[in-house]
Parts: sequence; structure tokens; C-alpha cells
Amino acid sequence: MRDQKISDDLLSWYDGNARVLPWRIGPKERAAGVQPDPYRIWLSEIMLQQTTVVVVRDYFRAFTTRWPNVSALAKAEDSDVMAEWAGLGYYARARNLLKCARVIDQDFAGQFPSDFETLLSLPGIGPYTAAAISSIAFNLPEPVMDGNIERVISRLFAIKTPLPTSKPELFQHVTRLTPQNRPGDFAQAMMDLGATICKPRAPSCDICPLRSGCAGFAASLQNTLPEKLPKKAKPTRFGNAFVARRRFDGAWLLERRPPEGLLGNMVCWPSSTWAELNPEVEPPFAAHWQRYGNQVKHTFTHFHLKLDVHYAWAPDIPLAPNQFWMPSDELRPSDLPSLMRKVFKVISSDDLWN
Ligand code: ADE
Repeated sequence: MRDQKISDDLLSWYDGNARVLPWRIGPKERAAGVQPDPYRIWLSEIMLQQTTVVVVRDYFRAFTTRWPNVSALAKAEDSDVMAEWAGLGYYARARNLLKCARVIDQDFAGQFPSDFETLLSLPGIGPYTAAAISSIAFNLPEPVMDGNIERVISRLFAIKTPLPTSKPELFQHVTRLTPQNRPGDFAQAMMDLGATICKPRAPSCDICPLRSGCAGFAASLQNTLPEKLPKKAKPTRFGNAFVARRRFDGAWLLERRPPEGLLGNMVCWPSSTWAELNPEVEPPFAAHWQRYGNQVKHTFTHFHLKLDVHYAWAPDIPLAPNQFWMPSDELRPSDLPSLMRKVFKVISSDDLWN
């Protein structure tokens, strides 16, 4: 099918079926001249990397209520932003988010640049995000390629080369298809089609606006494409977490992790390094440590983690500079990363402490 017809059919479908999303300017508003807010587009795109729309919605609302524009975010305390991000994972995104907000505030007078190259030079903005902002916020014809769009294009052109080998070919197709007119709506329409119709499993080809031109559908390959090269199995690592409470008031011992590395800058229970083999149990100070019966399990991008949880009443020990006592009526598990919330969940039972 002609490229023009594909993009016209997709845009007509989007006009009637666009998802309503808190950061989105829908097709009707856009046609009426409403411009998207680049701050909200940027924030949503950073949050949506590796995270679903359903999870992002609430975090997006909380962030934009607390920090309604990039200059407000630039002036936020690091610890407040990390706490608001807690639970979303991939904490380098939050550290770079703040860095980027401060660069925009100071070097760009609070205005996001519109061109791909300048966006790409900013902290935390890679080729996908630069293209998405340029296209969605500024309506510039940058080709946008994400996981949903890879699937749509693989099926539309019946591309049998497996991912990720096929990426350059997929990119060529999306570059050709992206229209000069309405490129931002086109990118969002592709994402919506991938999320609601051209789904990973059991795609709804019966209601697809692109079915008549879909080579994958014509060849009955819609359930098998895209092919994917096998992923490496994730290794398992092991570690120990140490949950201590101060004897005289029940305060919890927490620490802020160093800025580099996994969970960097996040508030966590003191823990060992995570190793391929069961590491030595080396508590942060001498006490009557007990081990909780079950391991806490968590999966990161590159490994599974099994954590032994140890707990003890603590004397009023001297603390390292990154450690602090959190009064028990002020501890908010929602400020902790998900792994550490799981630890809290098993360890907070009164039975263990009475
Ligand atoms: N996933 C990533 N970016 C998106 C967007 N702008 N709209 C919908 N889903 C998305």
C-alpha cells in the first residue's frame, strides 16, 4: 500500500480513537490550535520508558501537581524528587530528570529546545526521547520508534528478520511513513495502535484501520511477528539486608545510597553488596541479629535478586554520614524503592518486634 494511504488511514483512525492521556493534546484540541506543553511531554516520555501507561498516570499527576513547570522542578530538593519517583524503578531516570530540568532552567531560560540534536545533548534524553519530544511537543517530522511501533511496522511489512537485527530496516520504514503534516499525531497514533489493536498477543486485526495494507495479516503472520532473538537468561544474585530499630523509641535505621549504581540516591535499608554467590553476613554493627524466615525476591533489568533479611533492636550507635534514624510514625514506605518496600512488608509485623 502507498505510504501516504497508510498514514492517512492511521490518522483518520486516531481522530476517532485516540486514547485520553493526562499529558496528551488530543487530535481535536490540536486541530483547534492547542499546543502541547513540552515539559509535560518530556516528563511523560521519561516516565514511560520501561513503565506502563497505567502505572505512569498517577506518578505523572503527582509530579505535575507538585512541580507544574520545569523551573519549579529545577528548584526541587533532590531527596524530594527521589522520594516522589520511588516505586517507578530505574532511578537513573530520576537523577537525570533533575539534571536535565536544571540545564533547561539555567542554560535555556526554562524553554525546551525543539530540535532533535539539541534535545539529544541533554541529560537522560536518548534518540527515542529526543525524537518523541521533537515530534509530539513541536510537531517536527522526526521518525519515532519504540517497542509498540517496532511491532506494528514488523507486521505491516511482514519483516521476518528477528529483532534487534531488524531495527535499521524498521527505522527506514518509519522514516518514510512519517508525514510532514501531523508528525506528532502520527507518532502517537502508531503508539496507540500498538497498545490497543496491534497488541503483542492476539492482535485485533478485525478492527484494524491498516488491515487492508498489512502484509503480515495477508500472510497470516500477525501472531508470530515480530520474531525475536532469544534473550540471555538473567543470573541470580544474593545479598543481605539489615533492618534495625532503636531500642528506646523504635526508630528505623535507613541510609541513602551513593549516587552511582543501582538504586543510587535512594533511601534504603542498610545492605550488603549483591553477589553471585551467597555473601558473608556482615551486619553494620554488633547486635542480636535474627534472620527472617523467607527471602525477599526482586527482579532488576539484568538479574534476579534474593535477599536475606536480618533484624535487630539497636543501641544508639554512631551513624555513618549517609545513615539516619527515621521515627516510626514518620516512615513512609512509599518513599522507598520497590525492593525495600518488600523488605518492609515482611519485617514490619509487630510479632517480630514485640
Ligand atoms: N508510550 C510512550 N510514549 C507514549 C505516548 N506519548 N503516548 C502513549 N504511549 C506512549
